[in-house]
Amino acid sequence: MIDFKQLAQKYKTPLYIYDLDHMTAQYTELKDAFKARKSILCYAVKANSNLSVVRHFAKMGSGADCVSIGEVRRAFLAGIPSYKIIFSGVGKNDDEIREAIEKDILYINVESEAELGRVELIAKDLDKKTRISIRVNPNIDPKTHPYISTGLHDNKFGVDLSTAKRMYIFANNSEHLDPVGIHFHIGSQLTELKPIYESAEIVADLVRSLQTIKIELKFFDVGGGLGIKYDDETLIPTYEYAQAILATLKGLDLTVICEPGRFLTANAGYFISKVLYEKQNGEKNFLVIDGAMNDLLRPALYSAYHKIEAVTDSTSSLKKVDIVGPVCESGDFFAKDYLLPNLAHNDLVVVHSAGAYGFGMGSNYNTRGRSAEVALESGEDRLIRKRETFDDLIALEKEFLN
Ligand code: LLP
Repeated sequence: MIDFKQLAQKYKTPLYIYDLDHMTAQYTELKDAFKARKSILCYAVKANSNLSVVRHFAKMGSGADCVSIGEVRRAFLAGIPSYKIIFSGVGKNDDEIREAIEKDILYINVESEAELGRVELIAKDLDKKTRISIRVNPNIDPKTHPYISTGLHDNKFGVDLSTAKRMYIFANNSEHLDPVGIHFHIGSQLTELKPIYESAEIVADLVRSLQTIKIELKFFDVGGGLGIKYDDETLIPTYEYAQAILATLKGLDLTVICEPGRFLTANAGYFISKVLYEKQNGEKNFLVIDGAMNDLLRPALYSAYHKIEAVTDSTSSLKKVDIVGPVCESGDFFAKDYLLPNLAHNDLVVVHSAGAYGFGMGSNYNTRGRSAEVALESGEDRLIRKRETFDDLIALEKEFLN
C-alpha cells in the first residue's frame, strides 16, 4: 500500500509518483513472453521520459525507442547503450539525423522516401554507412482511439508496402545505407490481437520477398501499443501477443524488437492532488483540485478515463461530481459525473494509470509550474524531478525584458 498522505506531506501536491517495482514486473513479464527468440525491448521513452525512469529500464537491459534527438540524448544519459537505441518519427530534421548517425545508434527508422534520401546524403557527407529500418504502414485498423491509431493509410506514419520495397532496394544499393530492420506500429492502447497478428503477417511476408532478392534483414520491430487496464478493458495476454508475432516469423532468423511504453509505466504511476474547494452551479457539483490539465492532459485531449480515488476519512454517501482543475478552460477536467464522497479542503485524490503520457504531455499553460516526480523502489521514496518554480518558468525570457 502506498502512503499517499505521507508522500503528499513530504513532497507537496500536485505530485507524480512512480512505482519502479511495478515497472520491473511489467518489463520482466513481457521480456519473458518473447524468450523463445532473440529479442530486445526498446522502451518507448515518450511514455515517461524522466531520466530516472529511463535509467531504471537501462539497468534491466532495455533499449530505447526515441522520437526526437532529445529523447536519444536522454537515452544515452540514462545509460542505454548506443546499439539498443532506435530513432523513429515522421519528421526528423537534418541536425537530428546527423547526430543519430554520429552516435552510431542501432538504426534510424525511416518513414518516407524523402527522408531516406536525406539520411543517405548526410551519411555520405559524414563518410559513413548507417543502419536503417523502414516503417511499414500495413493499412490495418487497430480498433483504438482515432488519435492514437497509426497503422492506416489515413495516418501520416510509415510507407505502404510497395514503397517500402522500393526503399529497401535503394538502400541496399547505396554505399551509405545498411538496411537492417523492418518496423510497424499500428497504434496504442491495443486490446485486440487480430490486427497485430495480421500486420505482423503482412510485414513478415515483405521480409520473405526481400530475401528472394538477397536483402537480408536482422530486426523485426513490432512497435509498441499493448493496452493496459484503465477501467475494465479485456487485455491481450502478453504470452499470446508474443506467440502470435513469433508464429508469423517461421523460417526467418530475426531478432524481435518490441517498443512498449504504456504497458511498462502507465499503471506504475499515480498523480495525486489536493482538494481545494467543492462548489455547485445549479444542480451540478464540482470538485476543484490543485492539479490541472497542464499536469495530465489525457482526459481533456482524448476524453480518456482514469480511475480516481479519494483519500479521506469521510463516510458520507457518494455523489456525482466533475473533478476539475484551476486552469482557465472548460476542458480542464479529470472526470465528469464521477462518484465520490464529500471531501474537505486538503483531502487527497489519487488519479490512477498516470505513469504513461502523463507528466510528459504536461505544459506550463497558465504559468503553472509542472509537478514534482517521485520514485518508489523497495519501500523507499526519492525525488526524481523537482517541482518547477516561477523562476524556472521565466528563465528563458527574463533577459529580454526591457
Ligand atoms: N513505438 C512507436 C513508433 C510509437 O509511436 C509509440 C507510441 C510507441 C512505440 C509506444 O506505444 P505504447 O506502447 O505506449 O502504446 N499520447 C497518447 C499515446 C500516443 C502514443 C504515440 N506513440 C496517449 O496518451 O494515449
